[in-house]
Amino acid sequence: MNLLEKLIYKKKVITLDKFIDIALYNKQLGYYQTKKIFSRDGDFITSPFISSIFSEMISIWIVSYWIYLKKPKQINILELGPGNGFMINQIINSLKKIKTFDAKFTIYLHEKSESLVKVQKKNLNIFKNIIWTKNINKIKQYPTIIIANEFFDAFPIKQFFKINTKWHEQCISFKNNIKRIIYYKNKINNNSLKKYSKFFNINKSRVIEYPVKIENYINSISKIIKKNNGIFLTFDYGYSDSIGKNTLRAIKKHKIVNLLKEYTDCDITFDVNFNILKNIFKKNNIRHIGTVSQNFFLQKLGIMERATQIIKKQNVNDSKDLILSINKLINPKEMGSTFQALAFCNKDCKFNIGFI
Ligand SMILES: C[S@@+](CC[C@H](N)C(=O)[O-])C[C@H]1O[C@@H](n2cnc3c(N)ncnc32)[C@H](O)[C@@H]1O
Repeated sequence: MNLLEKLIYKKKVITLDKFIDIALYNKQLGYYQTKKIFSRDGDFITSPFISSIFSEMISIWIVSYWIYLKKPKQINILELGPGNGFMINQIINSLKKIKTFDAKFTIYLHEKSESLVKVQKKNLNIFKNIIWTKNINKIKQYPTIIIANEFFDAFPIKQFFKINTKWHEQCISFKNNIKRIIYYKNKINNNSLKKYSKFFNINKSRVIEYPVKIENYINSISKIIKKNNGIFLTFDYGYSDSIGKNTLRAIKKHKIVNLLKEYTDCDITFDVNFNILKNIFKKNNIRHIGTVSQNFFLQKLGIMERATQIIKKQNVNDSKDLILSINKLINPKEMGSTFQALAFCNKDCKFNIGFI
């Protein structure tokens, strides 16, 4: 038995979020602590790995916001969940090439996996002014531009199912006779779901998924936004609906696998219900700039114009690769509409780039 099975055996039942937290982030067993994740030959691929043009578009967005703020002398860029540091590496490199951008900038990285922090330190060792922070609330000075790609989809979630008229929490238990872990639905008091009624229509939903730490994060991000004209841009897969869905899945080698059999060796993810983000930011008096498809955002930022410039300077094979990569990023049948861009800023901020 591994340490997670031992724990379930001892406790008899643990909640799904606890199970996912250990399966993804435990130092000895966690997927994000022990596996080589990000690459074409890994288990899944994220936009910055497809082409650096994705990060270039984010750099242009960052510079546009800096211009909107009337070019402050110093800013911070905070990335949440930087993976192996690929995206921020590309962003730093492209910011250095944009001649109009002459601000001093400090990069803050917030990463839960200690082993990924090591990878990030190695991959980013040529850059100065990078600070790894466990507590983003400590960022107090200068306008802070917060960015994230596939951050919330890596959060442990709670799941609730309505069976007949009674709500049950999804849990994991150990079945002695087969010596395996199994799903176990624990009946709960229907009133305990009231706290989710801000985000979901509890009467009409039959499933509710809730990322446990999301409210803390959005509250912290809101404070940073309010403090010094901050802004937040995030990309993720998800939906906006008050009717909850069962979207939990385990991914290995780009395919969906059986979570309970493969959990030591696969990513565990879900579709983020963006209503949760929008609702908490709204409560915090933060403006929702918009939610648009990745395709819309990248085209508005000029991905095609940038591709035309690059293609003029490179050989035919590299150009073919670039066109294929851009297709993957923006084609609605690929990542173009599955992935959404969302942005949030101060109530009085009129910045809209990428969203109209
Ligand atoms: C799906 S990966 C995306 C990585 C990277 N952004 C990319 O696009 O390649 C999720 C990242 O978020 C990190 N992460 C998840 N939850 C976190 C949390 N609560 N605090 C900090 N980092 C977290 C993971 O360790 C991982 O680096």
